[in-house]
Amino acid sequence: MNKRDFLRTAATASLGVLLGDRVWARFADLPVERLAEDEAFWAAIRGKYRLKPDYINLESGYYSMQATPVLEAFIAKVRETNYQASYYLRTTQVPDKAAVRDKLAAMAGCSPAELCITRNTTESIDTVVAGFDWKPGDEAVMAEQDYGHMLAQFRLMARRHGIINKVVSVPADPKSDDEIVRLYAGVITPRTRLLMVSHMVNITGQILPVRKIADMAHGRGVDVLVDGAHAFAHFDYTIPDLGCDYYGASLHKWLGCPLGTGILYVRREKIATLWPIYGDHRMTDDTDIMKLNHTGTHPVHSDLAIEHAIAFHEMIGTRRKEVRLRYLQNYWTDKVRTLPSVIMNTPTDPTRSCAIANVGVKGVTPADLARTLLEKYRIWTNAVDNDAAGVHGVRVTPHVFILPKELDVLVKAIGEIARAA
Ligand SMILES: Cc1ncc(COP(=O)(O)O)c(C=O)c1O
Repeated sequence: MNKRDFLRTAATASLGVLLGDRVWARFADLPVERLAEDEAFWAAIRGKYRLKPDYINLESGYYSMQATPVLEAFIAKVRETNYQASYYLRTTQVPDKAAVRDKLAAMAGCSPAELCITRNTTESIDTVVAGFDWKPGDEAVMAEQDYGHMLAQFRLMARRHGIINKVVSVPADPKSDDEIVRLYAGVITPRTRLLMVSHMVNITGQILPVRKIADMAHGRGVDVLVDGAHAFAHFDYTIPDLGCDYYGASLHKWLGCPLGTGILYVRREKIATLWPIYGDHRMTDDTDIMKLNHTGTHPVHSDLAIEHAIAFHEMIGTRRKEVRLRYLQNYWTDKVRTLPSVIMNTPTDPTRSCAIANVGVKGVTPADLARTLLEKYRIWTNAVDNDAAGVHGVRVTPHVFILPKELDVLVKAIGEIARAA
């Protein structure tokens, strides 16, 4: 049994602990697809969150709250770190964090030597982009649909080092993976050194064919950086499966960790050539990813709480979570997709998305749509009005604590707003 399977088996056993053996016994043998529709099971999971009653929270894409057991464990870590003070920092901080990193690496399917804990995706991705040994005229490839601040980091490299950025635009509803791969391939030249691709487009929820893009880019000698901000602990994959060189993700999104936690993965052979942003005494070590991870004295209690979030996540199981989240998204998008005046900005093919979707209404600005949803229907979403990416709508992001009856409120609201428009 490998480490990942072991974690999974241990996690399965623990659902009895989370829900109570008698409750879990009712669900244990259900296939994931059936369990995805079992509201009694998900109501029990929902009971592990403290939800604000004032609104239906459909904005877990920005920050996904910690489940109560994780939050309590985190608070205990804050107290303990404060209690032991510098004694803790000087004694067991380093091995404790290394143990958390081991668990994250097992989850990501990579070697711990290739993974470090960062504060977020921004730090992870920017460490790679700024750590490249850029020369004037070098080229990088990315998409209009990538996260704005990541694109800004490449523009910064253009100003500072004279690199040239080639920006493609990914279609909202692609017919095939090849259509997307060809787009990226079409802008690669002999000067291209790095290609960044979002694993999941943050404004639309579209999952991109990262493996195929990576294989194509590697065939042309280009390194591949994946922005996995929304993918990690959202759906099932391992980082090595993706065949990329660098991967960054935030853990305060889908893993439900405290704010300010993320991961950076760098394929072993690529560690040597990246420049660290902050000086570190390991910076000449060609094999140690920790040379990229010197951020000084930091809130280590947040990092320590990650293992509790992993335990909670593994208790549900990535696959169960993925299938439920996709079920929730399809539950509401299937009902509004064909309504007059409704524009869906998320692919029709269900394998190209998971929890996140984006919907617009003709004649209604995204800001007005989000405002009406909140003020009239008490639904919290996020307005996206992005001309460059061609996306105008609200991003809707249910998490595992959302129930279909709450999505019925959204469906009714979209229907009424579309009719009025
Ligand atoms: C695709 C993508 N990349 C990067 C980020 C930045 O994440 P963070 O603010 O956690 O660094 C986000 C945030 O939503 C994102 O959606």
